[in-house]
Amino acid sequence: MTKLKMSRRAVLIGGTALLAAPPLQVLAQAATPSIHVLKDPDCGCCSAWIEILENENFAVTVEPSAGAELMRYKLANGIPEEMASCHSARVNGYMIEGHVPVADIRRLLDERPDAVGLAVPGMPYGSPGMGPESEREAYDVFLIRRNGVAEPFSRYGA
Ligand code: CU
Ligand code: CU
Repeated sequence: MTKLKMSRRAVLIGGTALLAAPPLQVLAQAATPSIHVLKDPDCGCCSAWIEILENENFAVTVEPSAGAELMRYKLANGIPEEMASCHSARVNGYMIEGHVPVADIRRLLDERPDAVGLAVPGMPYGSPGMGPESEREAYDVFLIRRNGVAEPFSRYGA
């Protein structure tokens, strides 16, 4: 009887371990996130940022949007006006505003915080898609909480 209980328990533990291991399909999706980008068709730095994402194995879809229409989209999706940049993107339910580095997007998708998403406000020189990194100015990546509060997520020095 005791032996039977033990083996049942072992089976249960085995089953839990199997459930805890992420299926291969999920791992594959994480490695190739789908990201949807809204950008001004005439914006070159947006295209440069998209190219960086594609080189990092993101599946990128692009939707043209500009001016007041694009700003309305940002605000409606929780990006505060002072956090706004050129393009806006959506990945796995998160907003990505501006020239956010790929490493930060991957960290966001790994950590999955309860938040609107990430933003690099303005267009800092030397951020991804904004000219040579060797001449970059210091900038911060912000995590935007659901209440609109932006907190530092990472910092890139000059
Ligand atoms: Cu830009
Ligand atoms: Cu842009």
